[in-house]
Amino acid sequence: MHVNGKVALVTGGAQGIGRAFVQALLGKGAKVALLDRNSEAGQESKAALDEQFEAQRTVFIQCDVTDEEQLKDAFKKVIEHFGRLDIVVNNAGVNNEKDWESTIQTNLTSVIRGTYLGLEYMRKGNGGNGGVIINISSLAGLMPAAFQPVYCATKHGVIGFTRSIAPINNC
Ligand SMILES: NC(=O)c1ccc[n+]([C@@H]2O[C@H](COP(=O)([O-])OP(=O)(O)OC[C@H]3O[C@@H](n4cnc5c(N)ncnc54)[C@H](O)[C@@H]3O)[C@@H](O)[C@H]2O)c1
Repeated sequence: MHVNGKVALVTGGAQGIGRAFVQALLGKGAKVALLDRNSEAGQESKAALDEQFEAQRTVFIQCDVTDEEQLKDAFKKVIEHFGRLDIVVNNAGVNNEKDWESTIQTNLTSVIRGTYLGLEYMRKGNGGNGGVIINISSLAGLMPAAFQPVYCATKHGVIGFTRSIAPINNC
């Protein structure tokens, strides 16, 4: 896929791997919406990226991906802002075994919801232009991870879900 001129949405885009995705996509000519629940980090990232790339190519949207309405609303805002959507990176993730239900919500439920939203907006049969959805897993999705059973389960889930849905949604 040619990235130049495309529009990408990256969850957990304020720091770490998500931020690296944002930077790489901007470097290849995309416009990028970075979603994150951390408003301060999101605004700081946007400001830093604006020094490197044209400011209008990046938008920060505060969004907790575990909140269904916030995630739906963020997808809508991206389309309203940039007029299209071509790439979704479901990256936001946490590793918290104590708050394990929230870990499942963030790492698995939100990835599934983000995939369905991406399909809704990008699928050619739905009036979209086709696109690419990238779901971030981990080595812990391929093998057991000592002392991280829930994180490991979510990352296995991401791989199982993505492998199962990809062949029937080739957009
Ligand atoms: N860092 C690693 O070594 C590693 C290895 C394998 C996989 N991963 C996966 O890569 C992804 C990114 O990891 P990272 O190391 O960059 O993490 P990180 O903690 O550096 O960044 C995660 C970002 O996601 C945001 N976030 C967390 N929960 C959120 C929520 N509910 N809603 C919106 N934003 C939220 C955080 O605010 C943060 O900006 C995760 O899915 C992680 O499991 C990381």
